[in-house]
Amino acid sequence: MKVLITGGAGYIGSTICSALEDQGHTPIILDSLVTGRPEFTRGRIFYQADIADSAALEQVFRDHPDIYATIHCAALIVVPESTSQPYLYYRENVAKSLELFHTLNRLGYNRIVFSSSAAIYDEVPGYMVTEEAPLAPNSPYSRTKFMMEMILRDFCAAYGMKGIALRYFNPIGADPKMRSGIHVKNPSHVVGKLVETALGKQPVFEITGTHWATRDGTGIRDYIHVWDLARAHILAVEGFERAFERAGQLQDPYLVINLGTGHGVTVREMVTAFEKVYGQSLPTREAPSRPGDVAGAYASAGRAWDLLGWKAELPIEQGISDAIRWGEERLKILHWD
Ligand SMILES: NC(=O)c1ccc[n+]([C@@H]2O[C@H](COP(=O)([O-])OP(=O)(O)OC[C@H]3O[C@@H](n4cnc5c(N)ncnc54)[C@H](O)[C@@H]3O)[C@@H](O)[C@H]2O)c1
Repeated sequence: MKVLITGGAGYIGSTICSALEDQGHTPIILDSLVTGRPEFTRGRIFYQADIADSAALEQVFRDHPDIYATIHCAALIVVPESTSQPYLYYRENVAKSLELFHTLNRLGYNRIVFSSSAAIYDEVPGYMVTEEAPLAPNSPYSRTKFMMEMILRDFCAAYGMKGIALRYFNPIGADPKMRSGIHVKNPSHVVGKLVETALGKQPVFEITGTHWATRDGTGIRDYIHVWDLARAHILAVEGFERAFERAGQLQDPYLVINLGTGHGVTVREMVTAFEKVYGQSLPTREAPSRPGDVAGAYASAGRAWDLLGWKAELPIEQGISDAIRWGEERLKILHWD
């Protein structure tokens, strides 16, 4: 089947493209390349356009009227940038998604899988969150994700659309076949920084925040291999209608599903796992938490299994080793200015 992927030139979108191709499907990428990489679009059907460009979308669907569903990954994703530039984030993520959903509906393409985020959850005792857990997005970025979910939910209720919001936990690693991975020059998340430290590109790994009420005081996350994440999208698209039947929600056309492993891992535990895989210890230093940091969360992962037949399969060690491999391989693949 053909699947439209907005943001298909990005880290997660490009990995979804590879997973679709491996299953015999055809990804069609719509991406403005505002942050994405042209290298990830090579050999693929690619439209360089903005998600709010309705003329470009009309062209996509004229060329490919048999597109079955849209996976909406396109977004700006840098939390500190969203704090200093909220207008940019609300415009690019919220206002433009509003236009995208409107255009898709107008053209009659009403199946949407949406990249949401676990960053919208509030902190809960024990740190495990079900899809019903309270929400408290704490940055402009995470509020854009929350708003996009609400818009999609309302559009589904009003306009005959069907939406599945997938709340990603913390993607790590790269395509195991090394076709794509993290593309930003200076990654800001934990595994990216560990790789940078291992490769000598930064002198020391800072454990930011050691006072949380977790088992060792450091933040807790649910690290999910990006390939497992990508596979979940294939199942969400292939089993799109079935997911609603299984949910017993034939009347409610909007579903929310967590995508995580179901296991919480602290920063210290991640450092230990990384050192084991890398075979060397790394220089680390404790530092205060940064503004906006949270203790974290991990997924209650049962609904993904019940509705999509999906669960994470790849161990954290593979996420780490694929991230390390990609840290070297990407120098051959990506050509930064
Ligand atoms: N990476 C994470 O840790 C994480 C966690 C939770 C959720 N998500 C969500 O997953 C999605 C993909 O994230 P990613 O890590 O692959 O980010 P990314 O920056 O690698 O990819 C985003 C892509 O969207 C494109 N894009 C942005 N605005 C656009 C627009 N207006 N029109 C067309 N294209 C546009 C960019 O060029 C880029 O290729 C995002 O929606 C993000 O919010 C990511």
